Amino acid sequence: MSSKIKVQGSKLPFVLVNMAMTADGKIATANHAVSSFGSARDRERLLQLRATADAVMTGARTVNSAPIILGPGPSRFRRLRLKNGLAEHNLRVIVSGSGLVNPRAEIFRHRFSPVIVLTTRRASPAKLHQLRAVADAVKICGKYNINLRAALGWLRRKWGVNRLLCEGGGELNAALFRAGLVAELHLTVCPKIFGGREAPTIAGGRGFRRLAEAAPLQIKSFKRIGDEIFAAFIVRRTK
Ligand SMILES: NC(=O)c1ccc[n+]([C@@H]2O[C@H](COP(=O)([O-])OP(=O)(O)OC[C@H]3O[C@@H](n4cnc5c(N)ncnc54)[C@H](OP(=O)(O)O)[C@@H]3O)[C@@H](O)[C@H]2O)c1
Repeated sequence: MSSKIKVQGSKLPFVLVNMAMTADGKIATANHAVSSFGSARDRERLLQLRATADAVMTGARTVNSAPIILGPGPSRFRRLRLKNGLAEHNLRVIVSGSGLVNPRAEIFRHRFSPVIVLTTRRASPAKLHQLRAVADAVKICGKYNINLRAALGWLRRKWGVNRLLCEGGGELNAALFRAGLVAELHLTVCPKIFGGREAPTIAGGRGFRRLAEAAPLQIKSFKRIGDEIFAAFIVRRTK
């Protein structure tokens, strides 16, 4: 993408979700031991997408279960970000209602850009103290669950986040879909079956109960490369 990134005039960021899943829709094995299974090309596309976003966001379980740092990647992607009119490094956002984010998680060891933790009043004073020592900002956005609409509004106002890339996991994605906040879903379908009733999928949570509630998607692009399928969907507005 060579032109500057366009953003809409909303008070909320434009939210993209990007996930790699197996052919049976799993994003990790049931024991969470395997969660990275895409090809080098999938990784390349992930970094290209990050290069269009002001901030990258994930749920607490994703940060706690793998050594991820959510950075822009090699210098060519940082140059792409600058070309796209963005800061050289994306902001990083962690969502945790309980505040039970491991303060020793890999993400806090890499200080190239601010790490912001969104949490709720469920987080204990001790936990908040711990997180404030390692994160650049800790924002309480709700009593029990995070009010994602309010949180995203704050990210836009306070941190200038116009485009937000959510990279899972399924619990966080589901909450975003439920709140009607997702504009695009980017999916890589990888040639594997994980199985496992407990294995997370791209949208977990309680799920919708009626067909009429399901998030309606429209295909934006679709491509097979090697044995992977790269698809992008627009989430149609229902209201
Ligand atoms: N294949 C892929 O592309 C991919 C991408 C990402 C992750 N993964 C894998 O997926 C697994 C994790 O997925 P997951 O679905 O189990 O967990 P997740 O979405 O990463 O994290 C869930 C946690 O996020 C917090 N959260 C999410 N929505 C919230 C809300 N509305 N309000 C308050 N807190 C909220 C909660 O934290 P608290 O419990 O602290 O309240 C919740 O327990 C890991 O194995 C990870 O490696 C795979």
